[in-house]
Amino acid sequence: MIYIILGIVALIYLITQPLLVVIYFKIKYGKRVIIQYAPMLGLLRTLSQSRAINGDAFESLSILIKNNRKADILVTNLLFRPLIIFLKPKYYRIFMQQYQDYSKFPMIVDKRLISKGMLMEGGAKWKQQRNLLGAHFEYNKLINLIPMINDVAQKKLTNLPNSIFPVMNIASSITGEVVLRAFFGEDIAQLSLNGQDPSQCVTQLITRFGQLITESKLFQIKRALLEEKVFSLFPRKIEKDLYELNTVMLDHMKKAIQSRMEKLKNCKDIVHKDYLDVYLDVYLNKNDQMNPPITEDEILQQSITLYFAGTETTANLVTTACYFLAENQHLQEEVYQEILGVLNGEQIITAKHLQNLQKVTGFLMECLRLKPVAPMLISKQAQKDLYIKDIFIKKGWYVNYMVLSNAQNKKYFSNPKKIDITRWKSDGTLKDSNIDPFAFVPFSAGGRNCIGQYLALIESKIVISKILMNYKLKLNEKIIRTEWIAKITYGLSNQDYITWESR
Ligand code: HEM
Repeated sequence: MIYIILGIVALIYLITQPLLVVIYFKIKYGKRVIIQYAPMLGLLRTLSQSRAINGDAFESLSILIKNNRKADILVTNLLFRPLIIFLKPKYYRIFMQQYQDYSKFPMIVDKRLISKGMLMEGGAKWKQQRNLLGAHFEYNKLINLIPMINDVAQKKLTNLPNSIFPVMNIASSITGEVVLRAFFGEDIAQLSLNGQDPSQCVTQLITRFGQLITESKLFQIKRALLEEKVFSLFPRKIEKDLYELNTVMLDHMKKAIQSRMEKLKNCKDIVHKDYLDVYLDVYLNKNDQMNPPITEDEILQQSITLYFAGTETTANLVTTACYFLAENQHLQEEVYQEILGVLNGEQIITAKHLQNLQKVTGFLMECLRLKPVAPMLISKQAQKDLYIKDIFIKKGWYVNYMVLSNAQNKKYFSNPKKIDITRWKSDGTLKDSNIDPFAFVPFSAGGRNCIGQYLALIESKIVISKILMNYKLKLNEKIIRTEWIAKITYGLSNQDYITWESR
């Protein structure tokens, strides 16, 4: 009995501890702070309530921030700890630059998937990984992928029925195959997953997991108490299913990597082309020079990291773009006319064409501004007591940045709710050089910015151009409610929003 009472007291202490910090911040900083506390759930409660009320997970937060423009920070909680979200560039600029002081919140509870990949790793391991892969993501290297991206997009977009179907399925099937071909070679790209397109398995996995974390209070409570054991101790059907889906994905990638490794072992003079070969080459031939050494599990998790990070994000951007084009017929025509003019009868999109597609670029940047695919970073946990300007962060607290804090702030973007493609130059930077470059950073900034940002833009420009060259998009009038959901990434729910009409 005494243990039960002690357990309950400990739980109450853990749950209320962040509340004390929230109150302390409000008393100390007054109007400079917005507060949002919900036992264990914190912001997640606001997201799920907002989705239910507004059909948009981030609408309530956007309104809250808009109505409190003077606020520098939003203080809330993430499970049992305080979460400090910086809203002004002068603060989050420092936070992004001092990335070494933080570790990342293990958002995807199942540690078998991405915990050893570049997105989640820290310290010397992360640095080694970024050095190893960095060159593969430079613009000059990525433009070699343009013919392949053309091929994949063309193949997936040909002979689609004249009808209604979810953009997200097509988009993730394209972006998934592009990542597989670019980084893992043809062998893996051609493997089907139990007869299914593996990219759709990724989308399913991320959507299901996202719904679990944003919508299931019970899952949050269980994960807070049990961490990874949430999948093995008294799992519910939904948790069991997700764990099995993860296992299927892991086995699939493992097989593909093993087969590539066997090929490399048997054929020493293979020309190293893709990222996996570079990794495997180091693992097989130079691992004794690596400090820390590379493990097979790391290679597997790095592959899954790139596959996840590269598939779902860009597919969401393409999906949002198609929705806005279908909603704004005038804008669709304007963008389409630019594509026709720049391509001038050619079917294959080249690097030169991409440079000239200024309206397409501006439009995609506006999509990211209005519906940012990654509206927040993965929350970072402070590894020591520190200050960001005058704000004290205690070791163990979480810190984050929210893209929406300024993306629709009229101080930076006049008429902020309007899609205005003329704000942007063809390289995706703002025309107005007076705007603080940190006002809008959809790919984060500093040493841990998105390594795949150029790929994401090259790819989405090609896919949107190919879609418009082949189809006219209209809104499916049967859909009554549009839903923007938080599913780790942020984007449309997977409904048949759009009618595709062949041109
Ligand atoms: C519209 C598309 C994309 C958006 C909006 C986006 C956004 C982001 C953001 C905000 C981060 C920082 C995360 C954090 O600090 O918590 C990030 C990191 C990362 N992204 Fe992307 N991303 C996109 C596409 C891609 C693509 C196509 C790839 C690769 C194929 C990719 C790979 C990564 C990786 C590996 C990291 C971790 C980098 C590091 O920590 O060093 N992303 N991305």
